[in-house]
Amino acid sequence: MRRTFMGDLRWSDVTPHAAFLNRRQLIAGAAALGFAGPAAAKLSYGPSVFSTDEKPNTLEEIASYNNFYEFGTDKRDPAAHAAALTTDPWSVKIDGMVDKPGDYDLADVLSGVALEERIYRLRCVEAWAMVVPWIGFQLSDLLARVGVQPSAKYVAFETIVRPEEMEGQKSPILEWPYREGLRIDEAMHPLTILATGLYGEELPKQNGAPLRLVVPWKYGFKSIKSVVRISLTDRQPETTWNMLQPSEYGFYSNVNPEVDHPRWSQASERRVGEGLFAGRHPTMKFNGYGDQVASLYAGQDLAKDY
Ligand code: MTE
Repeated sequence: MRRTFMGDLRWSDVTPHAAFLNRRQLIAGAAALGFAGPAAAKLSYGPSVFSTDEKPNTLEEIASYNNFYEFGTDKRDPAAHAAALTTDPWSVKIDGMVDKPGDYDLADVLSGVALEERIYRLRCVEAWAMVVPWIGFQLSDLLARVGVQPSAKYVAFETIVRPEEMEGQKSPILEWPYREGLRIDEAMHPLTILATGLYGEELPKQNGAPLRLVVPWKYGFKSIKSVVRISLTDRQPETTWNMLQPSEYGFYSNVNPEVDHPRWSQASERRVGEGLFAGRHPTMKFNGYGDQVASLYAGQDLAKDY
């Protein structure tokens, strides 16, 4: 079944944002870094009150130091191999406890959404961090359009499985598809976005084109890339890293300097781009978004619910 959203919101009055990078620099960098080429859409987006005021990492840092195990386990593998992934056409199956399940074309998912620039810190569980100027929209907007049923307690996400284009999927390094999940209140939180671009352009494939989740208060592995399925469920979904090693990776995975990974400390982090000899920085609880999200976990023991 192919569906479109009927009676959608109109393109809202998003204010085109002044480009903050020299356009020619950006295009040159973009071609080298795997954007879809000169035809790549320049996205129209508005500013957001949710952005941090930290200085974003460069496009080169963001697009050449990646984790995307579908393309290999080395940080350089995604930039080297992601060009092979076909991202157009793209459709997203939305199923489970929703009023309007279906296979939605990416254009339908994006039609009518208010794209915003969200400058977020991304903190990887491997204790490095960077700052990314995403272009995206709130996941809650999409969920409202498909009609979440009251019985739904969690949202499950899956990445595409296409070993002929994603060479890492030819080996069982992880159990494919890559999957992730959120509790419904986390999914509905205004900080939680689906990103479709960065630095004003479509997402580089290595960063999860054409659509990836971004949950800024959780470790980076929760921010699943190249999403093809979103399911509403009443059971806590299985998640890739938890399936691989439950003692190391919990379902919540909130950034927390007080709860160490069993094999390393989470108390400090290295900022990508600062160089090998720069000092480490103390890690912020909830990656600095505690004012907005700590209340979601009132009464929970976050050492137990890691
Ligand atoms: N999504 C998929 N499908 N596969 C992956 O291997 N890696 C995760 C996350 N999303 C991953 C994924 C991890 S560990 C991190 S830190 C972030 O993507 C990195 O996102 P970035 O490459 O845009 O910085």
